[in-house]
Amino acid sequence: MFDINTIREDFPILKRKVHGKPLIYFDNGATSQTPTQVIDTIVDYYTNYNANIHRGVHTLSQEATDKYEEARIKIQKHFNAKHSYEIILTAGTTESVNIVASGFSSILKEGDEVIVSALEHHSNIVPWQMMCEKTGAVLKVIPMDDQGALQMDVFDQLLSNKTKLVFCNHVSNALGTINPIETIIHKAHKFGAYVLIDGAQACPHIKPDVQELDVDFYVASAHKMCGPTGVGILYGKQELLELLPPYQGGGEMIETVTFEKTTYAGLPHKFEAGTPNICGGIAFGAAVDYMNAIGFDIIQQRENELLAYATEALSQIEGLKIYGTAHKTSVISFNIEGIHPYDIGSILDKLGIAVRTGHHCAQPIMDYFKIPGTVRASLSFYNTTEEIDTLVAAVKKAKMMLS
Ligand code: ALA
Repeated sequence: MFDINTIREDFPILKRKVHGKPLIYFDNGATSQTPTQVIDTIVDYYTNYNANIHRGVHTLSQEATDKYEEARIKIQKHFNAKHSYEIILTAGTTESVNIVASGFSSILKEGDEVIVSALEHHSNIVPWQMMCEKTGAVLKVIPMDDQGALQMDVFDQLLSNKTKLVFCNHVSNALGTINPIETIIHKAHKFGAYVLIDGAQACPHIKPDVQELDVDFYVASAHKMCGPTGVGILYGKQELLELLPPYQGGGEMIETVTFEKTTYAGLPHKFEAGTPNICGGIAFGAAVDYMNAIGFDIIQQRENELLAYATEALSQIEGLKIYGTAHKTSVISFNIEGIHPYDIGSILDKLGIAVRTGHHCAQPIMDYFKIPGTVRASLSFYNTTEEIDTLVAAVKKAKMMLS
């Protein structure tokens, strides 16, 4: 049973006011809010067992190590990875992509080809461009269409025996489009190419099964799914993580060190140099528990209802255009004719409503639509239809003030 009032009680921040108005938080695509269950886990860590992990014989260090490794197993189960050591805990999606791009920089050769989708966040474009500059590999792009969907027939034409890697987000952060990643993975594998899926915007809504997807790499961030900032995952198939060189040198990622030669630790430690975000990792485990306790079927159903309600209501506003109408998650990116998105966002903020405005770190999408940016309302299961009513009234007011 989904009881919205009980759920909202879990999020203390939803009680605060902004500019004297009750906060309406529609910027979940940038970061989700944090339930008490996760906040309590963070407080418990710093209150009771803050210590460095994998290093100490003392009780605190062992307790922290156990909790950190328990969290890794929770995350492994959530994503259905075959082994817990295939889950590398990173600083977030961006670092995860960079680990893979940096690794392939010493593997790819001139003339190799890599394919990226037109719907990517800059963090799933720039690291690959840097990799291509280093290796001489060629970056090709799957174009999008007016609905914000990928042109899969062009993808078919881009694939060849030269294709070594394909990168695509599971869900577009700017438009919410759910990409056909099963098909992308299947087609890329036919040509022997590896696939990395950026799941940062999918994981708040969808529970991915990395084994069923047969995906080679899957990356995500805790803070989009009720966890803390500064922690995320790189899932990789064991043989591929073993193939890649380490990303950073430092403590804990070694087996032996001499001045003549260092040998590296096995997985996952090879990619986890230095003291990690210990509290963050443990709290990520708590966030995964929290979301699974609600259930992703229920989360999706709730968010689809909110999306349909908001789309219908916003569409009634004359001059308002929604970008991205393909199969999507609960994201509504829109503009009002003749008004800059930043101006709408500023007025909404004064009315207590948090949205993101701008290019959403996805400039190629904005270039496609020939716009500087959009207003993005990204909805979560803890939002309500009453909040959407307030948003619609506020957008109308902003339109009136700015026209
Ligand atoms: N990538 C995050 C967003 O889309 C920050 O807002």
